[in-house]
Amino acid sequence: MSGPVFVVAPAKVNLFLHVGEKRDDGYHALQSLVAFTKYGDEISFDHNDRFLLSLNGPFGAQLSDGEENLVLRAARLLAEKTGVRDGARICLHKNLPVASGIGGGSADAAAVLRGLTRLWQIDLGPDRLREIGASLGADVPVCIESTTSWMEGRGEHVRRLPPLPEAGVLLVNPGVQVSTAQVFSGLGLRHGVGMSAPAAAFPDVGALARYLRDTTSDLEGPAQKIAPVVADVLRAMDALPDALLARMSGSGATCFGLFANKKAACTAGTLLRARHTEWWICETVFSAR
Ligand code: C5P
Repeated sequence: MSGPVFVVAPAKVNLFLHVGEKRDDGYHALQSLVAFTKYGDEISFDHNDRFLLSLNGPFGAQLSDGEENLVLRAARLLAEKTGVRDGARICLHKNLPVASGIGGGSADAAAVLRGLTRLWQIDLGPDRLREIGASLGADVPVCIESTTSWMEGRGEHVRRLPPLPEAGVLLVNPGVQVSTAQVFSGLGLRHGVGMSAPAAAFPDVGALARYLRDTTSDLEGPAQKIAPVVADVLRAMDALPDALLARMSGSGATCFGLFANKKAACTAGTLLRARHTEWWICETVFSAR
């Protein structure tokens, strides 16, 4: 029997997010360049006959440990799909703000699928895990491998891209939760889904920033209508020294800033923290995958 398993559920960043038409299933067609940071939630798993979830960490108190928690839903779904009769003792250390556009719940669900296949020693490839995860949320498939990816469809088509160049990343959340469904329903003008995935790896962060400047986040407008503070965050981040780009991720309200390296992101983060003590601010880097 394998011992306890520990996995990180990295934060997901939509470097751009273009939205197309609403599909017959009620979801919108998307195109997004998705990256992951080194920082994320941390989840441990150990053997148990029933499923037990405990929550801690800076944002643990904002989540319920009941059956509707995505962690438990993912665990039960995997058990059902694979015929496993065991449970697990799961401990989620919630480092990422809740309902905030950086995939926290989806990243956790995907990490549960990864972690439990290791704990239970069952051999399911990433394609099968993405298929299982898709019913838990549109962002779960891309979080299964948590590698730099090109995402299409409603989120279920995921193509792995080369890792991003070295960059510093600043994540900023102003402490408001926005509902993804509500943001999508406020969509106005949008970019559509006519782009092709980048043909080659970005040689450096400058090339990445130039590429991103020709793209946008179509959800920024509707999110700002629901949570005007998103505009304050973007303005404050744009004004930071050496910020190459500031943009909202997913349906918000978390925004990210792109910097040449972690040192520049840390300098900017220190300045911003002094001005906005109420905001959650995290200096990190893209994961090397
Ligand atoms: O799948 P998930 O629970 O993350 O999606 C939440 C809501 O966001 C959906 O119910 C839908 O209203 C909206 N959505 C969408 N198109 C997508 C992804 C999400 O309209 N591609």
